[in-house]
Amino acid sequence: MAVSTIEWEDGRIKLIDQTLLPNEFKQIYCDDLPTIWEAIKSLRVRGAPAIGIAGALGAVLGIWNSQAESYDEFAAELKSAVDYLATSRPTAVNLFWALDRISRIAEEYKDLAISDLKGVLLSEAQIIIEEDKAMCRAIGQHGMALLNENDTILTHCNAGGLATSDYGTALAVMFSAHDAGKKISVFADETRPLLQGARLTTWELMQAGIDVTLICDNMAAQVMKEGKIQCVIVGADRIAANGDTANKIGTYNVAILAEAHDIPFYVAAPTSTLDYALATGEEIPIEQRSADEVTEGFGKLTAPKGVKVYSPAFDVTPASLVTAIITEKGVARPPYKVSLQALQDT
Ligand code: MRU
Repeated sequence: MAVSTIEWEDGRIKLIDQTLLPNEFKQIYCDDLPTIWEAIKSLRVRGAPAIGIAGALGAVLGIWNSQAESYDEFAAELKSAVDYLATSRPTAVNLFWALDRISRIAEEYKDLAISDLKGVLLSEAQIIIEEDKAMCRAIGQHGMALLNENDTILTHCNAGGLATSDYGTALAVMFSAHDAGKKISVFADETRPLLQGARLTTWELMQAGIDVTLICDNMAAQVMKEGKIQCVIVGADRIAANGDTANKIGTYNVAILAEAHDIPFYVAAPTSTLDYALATGEEIPIEQRSADEVTEGFGKLTAPKGVKVYSPAFDVTPASLVTAIITEKGVARPPYKVSLQALQDT
C-alpha cells in the first residue's frame, strides 16, 4: 500500500482508521496509551500482525516521555504500559508476542542510559515492522505456488495489507499471484458483524486490480456447490501447536463447507501467529464483543432493542480441516505437530 497501516511519527503513532473505510480514508494520531488502547479495542487498527505492531509501538509510546531516573523505575512504567495494552484484545497472539519482545529487549539493554534505552525499544518496534513486511512477501511467494491459472479463491474477513504492516497474509498470496501474471479471481465473504470482508478486503483487492466478488456469509455453500471456488485462503489470529487455528468468527463454517465440497482450505500466517505453548485450540481465548455491534452495527437498529445477543469474535477451525498452513518459512502440512515444530527449528 502507498500509505502505512501503522507507523511511528515524531513521538506518536499514526494509523489508518479502518472503522471509516471504505467511505473515508483517514489517518489518525495516537498520542497516549488510552488512545492506542482504544484504537486496538474498537478495531481502528486490526488484524493479528497489525495488532502486534500496535502493541509494540504502544509500549514505546507508554515510556516515551518517561522521567524515570533508574532502570527499575523505567521497567515498572514499561510493565504497566505492557499490562494495560495486553487487556485490549485477547485472541491474536501477535499482541502478546510483540509485548514480550519489547519487554525482553528492555531487560537485555537495562545498563543503557534511559534516553538510549528508549531509542533501542523504538528500533525494536521498527524491526518488528520491517520483519512483518518481509514475512508477508515471503508468505505470498510460498502461497502462490498453490494456485493455478484461473483459480477462484474464497476468503473470509480481511488478512490484507490493512491487517499487517503491508501486503497481508491470505491476500499476499493473491497479490503475489496477480503480480506474477497469474489470472485469479476472489470471492470475499462480507464477514458479519463488522464487515471486514465487505469494507476492507474488496477495497484492497479492487485497488490492486484483482477481480473480486462480494458475497454475504451465508452464500458460501451455494457458491461452492456451483463449482465456483477452487480453494479457500484465510488468515489466522492464533495457531496452536497441533495446527488448530483461531480466525475471525465464521472461518470454521467455511472450513466445514470446504471439506464438504472437497475444496482445499489454506491458512496463511507468519510464525509470530504460532503459539507453541498451547497444545490445542481448546486453550485459545476467544474474544467476546458487545451486543450493539450485532444489533446496531453502523448506526442502524436491525434487531429489537434489548434482545439477548451472543457475539464471539473468533472461532477455532480444527487442524483436521486445514489442508496446509502457509508461513514465511514455507508450507506446513499435516501432521502439524511435527511440521510446525520443524518450522520453529529452522
Ligand atoms: O477482528 P479482526 O478484524 O482483528 O480479525 C482479523 C482476522 O480475523 C484476520 O483474519 C486475522 O487477524 C489475520 S490478519 C493477517
